[in-house]
Amino acid sequence: MNIDKDQIRMVIALFVVAIIAAGVTGLTDIFTRAPIAAAQKLALHQALQQVLPEHRNDPQAEVFSIEDTAIYPAKRANGELTGLAWEVVAPDGYSGSIRILVGVRPDASIQAIRITYHRETPGLGDGVTKNKPWLASFVDQTLTSKNWKVKKDGGDFDQFTGATITPRAVVKAVKAALEFFHSHHKIMLEQASKHSDIAHKEAGIE
Ligand SMILES: Cc1cc2nc3c(=O)[nH]c(=O)nc-3n(C[C@H](O)[C@H](O)[C@H](O)COP(=O)(O)O)c2cc1C
Repeated sequence: MNIDKDQIRMVIALFVVAIIAAGVTGLTDIFTRAPIAAAQKLALHQALQQVLPEHRNDPQAEVFSIEDTAIYPAKRANGELTGLAWEVVAPDGYSGSIRILVGVRPDASIQAIRITYHRETPGLGDGVTKNKPWLASFVDQTLTSKNWKVKKDGGDFDQFTGATITPRAVVKAVKAALEFFHSHHKIMLEQASKHSDIAHKEAGIE
């Protein structure tokens, strides 16, 4: 078999291009990882500010986990818990999953909710992110204060004109968030105060 010089050159050239491409991809990953993580942290910080009651702590620094769910506690300067926030996923949006950050007070009432991820249609399903009165209709509610369905299904929450699927999915997921609190509130409140103790000890406060 005869391999001429041109073929060898071509193989070497392809090899060099592959090495350079792999290097560029690796470097891009290294240089973008930190900014992406920082942007995600900032976005979460802003969403937490919107759903949690007044607090002086950094909820992300005191995060703890219950059944694989990250729980962000809000506390006053004296360590008193004012609320907890966690994300729930509505798997049944019109265009796939919707992520919802739910802020709940220790008395099991909702402080606020915010959509953190969705791919719903602009002008239709994306009302769940933009419709302020609709978002406000969740504030102060508890598991028993509302019939947790959209009006079209006999419940208390509005659907939107031409878009029932998205609000239906969000209402169902927020209800599930309240049910999660109902069945785990003891351990959630315990864990929140334990973390407060650790933070106080680390800061040298007895
Ligand atoms: C292109 C297109 C995009 C749509 N986007 C949404 C959406 O984001 N959210 C939604 O609830 N419904 C959306 N709909 C409407 C739904 O198909 C459905 O008709 C509507 O939610 C009303 O549901 P109902 O008939 O069960 O009340 C969309 C429809 C079309 C044709």
